[in-house]
Amino acid sequence: MDTGLRHGCELARDAFDRLHAIGNDGRGITRPSYSAAEDQAHALVERIASEHGLLVRRDWAGNLYVTLPGRDRNLPAVMTGSHLDSVPCGGNFDGAAGVLAAVAVLTGWARTGFVPDRDVTLIVTRAEESAWFPVSYIGSKAAFGLLTDADLAARRVDDDESLAEHIRAAGGNPDRKDGPGLLNPAQIDSFVELHIEQGPVLEGTNLPVGLVTGICGSVRYRSIVITGRAAHSGATPRAFRSDAAIAAARLMVALDDLWGHLDATGEVMTLTFGVCRTDANANFSAVAGQVEMSLDMRSRDIALLQRVENDVRRIAAEIADRHGVAVDLGARTSSMPAVMDPALLGQTEELAKSAGLPFCQLPSGAGHDAATFAGQGVPALMIFVRNANGSHNPDESMDFADFAVATGLLEKLLRLRSEGRRA
Ligand code: HGY
Ligand code: MN
Ligand code: MN
Repeated sequence: MDTGLRHGCELARDAFDRLHAIGNDGRGITRPSYSAAEDQAHALVERIASEHGLLVRRDWAGNLYVTLPGRDRNLPAVMTGSHLDSVPCGGNFDGAAGVLAAVAVLTGWARTGFVPDRDVTLIVTRAEESAWFPVSYIGSKAAFGLLTDADLAARRVDDDESLAEHIRAAGGNPDRKDGPGLLNPAQIDSFVELHIEQGPVLEGTNLPVGLVTGICGSVRYRSIVITGRAAHSGATPRAFRSDAAIAAARLMVALDDLWGHLDATGEVMTLTFGVCRTDANANFSAVAGQVEMSLDMRSRDIALLQRVENDVRRIAAEIADRHGVAVDLGARTSSMPAVMDPALLGQTEELAKSAGLPFCQLPSGAGHDAATFAGQGVPALMIFVRNANGSHNPDESMDFADFAVATGLLEKLLRLRSEGRRA
């Protein structure tokens, strides 16, 4: 590792520690989208960038751009980046690993005086975690001008304030959602996102890095409401009950069995009930009158997601009949799967091989901003870093040695893409 990148990695190590204090909820990290904690995390990166003479700018939605200018600033730029918001009580590496890896590369280059042929730009996106607003990839969509008025009207789950209000509070300007200052896919050579794997594959195969082949899409029902009838738990015989709790349990088991069958036949998806709660009046001596639950389905196979969604509707209707309850699936949100660029994948494989770096190819079960770039026709790739304890939990962890290895590969790829006068 050259001195520049070593400096950059040490700087990243310190920045991880500083980030850990921003949004620390005593158990994990809670940096809501468009919150003071996300603002502070962005400000930390902006300060480091300015201290190294890198160019910084923000767009209408508050996404941060850090650029090392190239010799020819008219050439399509090489981009990299990730996010700094987190899920409630999550970890300190989801998103942050990709941002700080890019910071390590750019500050290292600035320090050694490396000048690329074309701009290399880090985007620190806003609001990648869709745990806060019922919209996926808010920041990266905003960067391309893809957010709708309905998206801007979406409300944050914890304070019920709209996305537009939150963007304004963060210093952004929703009136400029259609430009100027938007990203133009034709002006982007490639987008590379480094990210922790968040799953068990790299740990299981004892590999520090993985190259992502594709990113899952999703169909979500964030607030399914099952309404039965609250009744006396002692005085109400079985035949007279409309028990929302039993209906919810039966729906979850039926859908999990469906997933089990698909899994057994090799059809790859995930199906998760992250939220499941009875209403505020629930008590042990009453039949549950209402249950609210969430359903998150993901796959790279959009046709499979469609089929399963049809099954969800059918099974929900059957269970409503059987238990005399109403099942309201509520609002539906979704995101498209994305395929990573084969040429970028091939180039990165060659770089890893020539560096003697063991790796594997794997799909991403999680969603990422790279999917937005790929969806806009920008050649995109993700580099996964091995991490323990998965993600979206406070025990999410990452070895710094693995981070340094993956950052070294990112540096090689960004350097390769930034050199040469391709169109
Ligand atoms: O949910 C996801 O897939 C990502 O963490 N936003
Ligand atoms: Mn992430
Ligand atoms: Mn996440």
